[in-house]
Amino acid sequence: MADIYRAYDMMSGQDVVLKIPNRMLIGDPAQFERFQRELEVTNTLNHPSIQKGLGSGQYNRTPYLVTAFVDGKPLRDVVAEQGAMPTERATALIRKIADGIAYIHEHEVVHRDLKPENILITADGQPVILDFGLALTKSARRVTYANLTPSAGTPDYMAPEQIEGQRGDERTDLYAIGTMFYELLSGRTPFSGDSVQVVMQQHLQGALPRLDHEQPGISPQIAAVVARCLQRDPADRYADVRAFLHDLDNLDSVDLSILEKGTGVQTALPFWYSPTFRTVVVSLLILVAIVVLALAAQGLAPK
Ligand SMILES: Nc1ncnc2c1ncn2[C@@H]1O[C@H](COP(=O)(O)OP(=O)(O)O)[C@@H](O)[C@H]1O
Ligand SMILES: [Mg+2]
Repeated sequence: MADIYRAYDMMSGQDVVLKIPNRMLIGDPAQFERFQRELEVTNTLNHPSIQKGLGSGQYNRTPYLVTAFVDGKPLRDVVAEQGAMPTERATALIRKIADGIAYIHEHEVVHRDLKPENILITADGQPVILDFGLALTKSARRVTYANLTPSAGTPDYMAPEQIEGQRGDERTDLYAIGTMFYELLSGRTPFSGDSVQVVMQQHLQGALPRLDHEQPGISPQIAAVVARCLQRDPADRYADVRAFLHDLDNLDSVDLSILEKGTGVQTALPFWYSPTFRTVVVSLLILVAIVVLALAAQGLAPK
């Protein structure tokens, strides 16, 4: 969505990242908002797990944002290379991510676009959360998530309320944290499918897989913490990220009853959702149209 450069700041002598709105999108109000949001948010937050703003301004009327360069690897690549992580490592990582998210929530910012593509992991294992373009802030509540959905990319981490076009809140980020935790522990996201629509449908109606049944070596306690984050109704999730962290620190007293709740009967998608079925129908319609046209042409031809 933006042009991003690695640059060298001659004043401070450090590597930085320069982010400017993509030229193609410069006249688009939604993108302008998105960039303003990111400037505003980044300049006010200060936490080891959050991208560090170093300043912003305008050059020839083009706004720009400078952040500290993070020498790290996208969490997406880490997951792709390593697959399922041992519980201890996954927990340590998700704890640092959640700590950063708890911090932004305490500053009345909701990220709303948490996914492994937007998190870099440094060599010493520190996650850094990027990309506050979809963030919700107290002072800027105009743009709803629905306006920006087309630019949001993968629906794999989107909470049901976001899919329904609602604005979302802290518990929306918790849903994404739960999805990433699930993925770190098992190497795959809880809901998947051939198309964006199928994945969205799964988030809205699919049965939540029980992680301790899906993946060997996962305790019911960890599975219950993940399931609590992934409840379809935000009211059934943790009230905030601190409550999630508290459960992670006190696994012995985690409420396991949630594991029964999350596993309803899978509502299978009707067969007309399948791409193959649609292709066959469209092909048949074209065939019929050709036959009809041919017959019509014959009928019109001079006898
Ligand atoms: N501070 C940074 N340090 C290192 N790489 C960065 C930094 N900011 C962004 N990047 C790289 O640029 C990519 C896109 O940045 P992001 O902020 O997610 O923009 P977009 O809105 O285009 O998704 C990131 O996935 C990351 O690889
Ligand atoms: Mg991004």
